[in-house]
Amino acid sequence: MFFSQKLLGCVGLLTLSCSVASAAHSFAGSNLYYAAGLYASDRTTLLDGMQSAGMKVLRVWLDGQSTSQKGTNIDPFPDLEPTQICNGAANCYNDTVLQRLDDFMIDANSRGIKLIISMHSFNALQAGDVYGREYGTGYFYEQAYPQQAFDARLQHVMNHVHTTLGKPWKQLNDYIFAFEAENEAMIGKGQQYIEDHQQWQCDRANTIKNELAGNTGILVITGGESWMDESVQPGFLSCASLDAISIHAYGTGDYATSAIQTYVQRAQAAGKKLLMEEWGACYFTTENNNCPSGSVLSTSTRNQNIQTWASQITAAGLPWLYWQVLPNADPHYGQDYEIGIGDASWGTLESAAQAALSANAAFDFTEYLL
Ligand SMILES: *[C@@H]1O[C@H](CO)[C@@H](O)[C@H](O)[C@H]1NC(C)=O
Repeated sequence: MFFSQKLLGCVGLLTLSCSVASAAHSFAGSNLYYAAGLYASDRTTLLDGMQSAGMKVLRVWLDGQSTSQKGTNIDPFPDLEPTQICNGAANCYNDTVLQRLDDFMIDANSRGIKLIISMHSFNALQAGDVYGREYGTGYFYEQAYPQQAFDARLQHVMNHVHTTLGKPWKQLNDYIFAFEAENEAMIGKGQQYIEDHQQWQCDRANTIKNELAGNTGILVITGGESWMDESVQPGFLSCASLDAISIHAYGTGDYATSAIQTYVQRAQAAGKKLLMEEWGACYFTTENNNCPSGSVLSTSTRNQNIQTWASQITAAGLPWLYWQVLPNADPHYGQDYEIGIGDASWGTLESAAQAALSANAAFDFTEYLL
């Protein structure tokens, strides 16, 4: 009886309170893996640019950096575990990267932007960080000890007490949008390996969720794989501790609205959210998902690509984070999807991000956004 009255009341209100979920707005954001290495003026440029584009989320990594990246000057900082696997020994970690991000998240918050904290990367593992040196890219995901020591790393990050706010990161709902264990876990191993080791992702998500200790104001997400199908594993959709699945996609087939919608429906059926956490438009005339060098696309063609693909992703109801917005002009080094603030494609990306903010989304992220 009570239930049916509520339903009637709902109809009577004529969609005002009842359509909130379906009227949830989308949003856009960006990635900058080396954000902790930005000098103050670049940080201001980046965050001001993101704010003017209406971008709401910036995804950052914790890997140490010592040299300039993508034409951005770097204030060097070491890895969180610079010399050995710390396994929870507090004075073994070097918290410089966390302290840098303490300042960064204050500036971001003042511009309506929250951070995704990606707590490790496959890239660092493969490049031979403390875990990679000892366990390589296979045993790291397979043996008990590295998983235990890695969980201790996740706990260390989440319990880092913010330098000025005086609270651990795991309580900073106004500053942190989501935690993820690792950027693109296992990707160098191929899709079959990822399918065979899906449990690794859920085990790490359990660690993060347990550490949140009932705080549901920060999302637990996956950190993506190489493309859509690889990113959305059945074991991720059925993992109780995961709130959202991160999709990374660079092949243009994965940007088709109808292709994305099949994954949206699977996620909705599983009670999970989806986020296009990494996508980009190649600067060269190569296939979009193979962008190391080549002839340069005309500005108008690239801008058309950015506009078309962003609007297709938005039309499927997915929020998206571009890979990557730079505080400086893009020098076009290496895999080149970047757009510098002020570059010829910046205005196009800005408009696409603003359009996302006023579009409907398939998933309601409202309570997680500033
Ligand atoms: C952390 O790294 C910084 C920069 O390399 C260094 O100056 C500092 O002494 C290190 N701190 C600890 C506790 O090892």
